[in-house]
Amino acid sequence: MSQPRDHWSSNTGLVLAATGSAIGLGNLWKFPFITWENNGGAFVLVYLICIAAVGLPIMMAELLIGRRSQKSAVGALKEAAGPAWGLIGGWGVLAGFILLSYYTVIAGWSLYYFAQSLGWSFGGYPAGMSAGDLFDTQVGNAGLQLMLSLGFSIGTIAVVYFGVSRGIERIARIFLPILFGILILLLVSALGMSGSGEALGFIFRPNFGELPREGILEALGHSFFTLSLGMGAMITYGSYISRKQSIVKAAGAIVALDTLIALVATIIMFSVIFSVAGMSEEVGGSTVGMLFISLPELFYTEVPFGVLLGPLFYVLVALAALTSTISLLEVVTSYVIDEHGLTRNKATVGAGMAIFVFTIFAALSFTGTPFLSSLEIFEGKVGWFSNADHFVSNWMLPTGGFFITVAAGWMMTRSTTESELLDGNEPRWFHYGAWRFFIRFVAPVAVAAIIIAVITGVDFS
Ligand code: PFF
Repeated sequence: MSQPRDHWSSNTGLVLAATGSAIGLGNLWKFPFITWENNGGAFVLVYLICIAAVGLPIMMAELLIGRRSQKSAVGALKEAAGPAWGLIGGWGVLAGFILLSYYTVIAGWSLYYFAQSLGWSFGGYPAGMSAGDLFDTQVGNAGLQLMLSLGFSIGTIAVVYFGVSRGIERIARIFLPILFGILILLLVSALGMSGSGEALGFIFRPNFGELPREGILEALGHSFFTLSLGMGAMITYGSYISRKQSIVKAAGAIVALDTLIALVATIIMFSVIFSVAGMSEEVGGSTVGMLFISLPELFYTEVPFGVLLGPLFYVLVALAALTSTISLLEVVTSYVIDEHGLTRNKATVGAGMAIFVFTIFAALSFTGTPFLSSLEIFEGKVGWFSNADHFVSNWMLPTGGFFITVAAGWMMTRSTTESELLDGNEPRWFHYGAWRFFIRFVAPVAVAAIIIAVITGVDFS
């Protein structure tokens, strides 16, 4: 029983929804941290090169594979490259399933910090309370973790339930402008802080002597994660594009916005951190530390207008995370609809509930739960959550991305991809020959380098 396919109502709708998918915890949580860990400047420059040379061409490839077939990841890859390629689509759907299951847990933390920060804004930051203790208490509370993740999962399911134009696009149209507005406000106040000069220098002054070698792989790996590539999310979103909309323009806008927001978020966070004496030595510990430990306390003890900016910041994190979780659920839902013929309502609720079972495992990873908190599959990764994240980021996304480049660059004919990209609406800066060179040679070689590095034991998650 085939159902008529929903479409984005306009190019802006597509760009906002896909940008919403791309901008997420990767921009606000992972990128600032890995920039910190890799000593700033040179890392940021390498990251920008990876985004332009690998991320952008693959973004176009995924969107075109989706638009051409008007099918979700499995059907689209079969149509692009042959029946066996359905397996690669299936690998992507599985990646979306696992990624969503643990991403929801961190997204849930943003709800908690939003509620807490609202409380502090009205009641004052409790004297003598360390943000580190607060974090440990919330993350170790099984009941709270389950409630937060459940709340976020229900929000995600509710949006996807309404479909592409009435659910996903509508939410993106409302939330993204709010998100941009909050970021501008935070940026303006961050630039006024005493540490902003040091922060800008740290981020934009490259010193290649300080870039660790794994930093290059980390930049490349992160460009997949942050652009939602390698698992069919953009293939799925591409399948809702109509012929009238230019893939190249959309891809350019999505990639530019995602990169801009990552940089802005990093400037904001580092300005706050560099404004407080001694803080920059303390935050180095972990990704979690930066977003959920250093910042909350600083908002209330150091930052001008922190009572206002604190809650705003956590709303921002929650909105950014939601527009990403809906795209992850859409990957799985659209697969179930297209390949198994379920209605959207049934597919959304069924997929959402199945994924939530695994969210429970991820949520209990930090609560001292036997097995879930101590599981160690990959060396040095302790707990369900860390192993799942390592598997998806280091193994699944790069391998999926590699095969997508092969499908678009080597399996599809020149005339097919050319007619998809040169659709009469493409912008002037675009050269098809350059795209084809990058997708056939540069991107697969770069991605193969990540895979080889992972096989030989380099860890960059
Ligand atoms: N791009 C998202 C982020 O940066 O947080 C993560 C993500 C979302 C990856 C959706 C993949 C995806 F399909």
